[in-house]
Amino acid sequence: MSDPLVVVNFKTYQTAHGASAEDLARAMVSIETDARMIAAVSAFDLSAVVTAAPSLEVWCQHLDPVGFGSNTGWLHPATAIERGASGTLINHAEHKVSLEHVAMLLEQVPDGFDVCACAADIEEARALAALEPGFVAVEPPELIGGDVSVTSADPEIVSGTAQAVRDVSEVVGILCGAGVKSGSDVSKAIDLGTSGVLLASGVTKSDDPTSSLKDLVSLL
Ligand code: G3P
Repeated sequence: MSDPLVVVNFKTYQTAHGASAEDLARAMVSIETDARMIAAVSAFDLSAVVTAAPSLEVWCQHLDPVGFGSNTGWLHPATAIERGASGTLINHAEHKVSLEHVAMLLEQVPDGFDVCACAADIEEARALAALEPGFVAVEPPELIGGDVSVTSADPEIVSGTAQAVRDVSEVVGILCGAGVKSGSDVSKAIDLGTSGVLLASGVTKSDDPTSSLKDLVSLL
């Protein structure tokens, strides 16, 4: 089995933007683990985070399938790649797009660039998996930012998504997120058939992000 993923979505948390984003990225790099630690950062912070933590995998939080030219305010994949992004989230519960947007993005990005398409439920996960992104992440919106991990609150949606994605594709990776905070949450996610987790507040709202990160990978 390949190394599990721990994707930390910096969102627009105050503790994970600007200079704090660079500090958090350095904290992620300092963790000794075989897990793939990935930071999903604001487009504004991409270059600075890549410079601050060159060995860290850094993803965007969103990209747009646009060409070069008249596209004010949109996020061109080639610019992200030139600035060091190795992947992106897309269709996050807080930044929904159409299935067509996801399909066009997948057509545009080069091989090896990770696209993690987020789904609110098993049906959406199935539809996204058919497009063959690198990963599908299931995150029930009502559990995002909460205190109870999806792996405890709704383990069936995690195992059901894993099964649904596998039915559609052998190659699409499976992640889950919402309320994930501890090593046992991560370990349960793996037991339920995923390749890892996508989380935010467990790290970005922690009083001690480094020890929270250590705990997250402690049972892997
Ligand atoms: O993208 C991760 C996210 O939506 C889950 O957030 O705060 O519940 O870990 P959180």
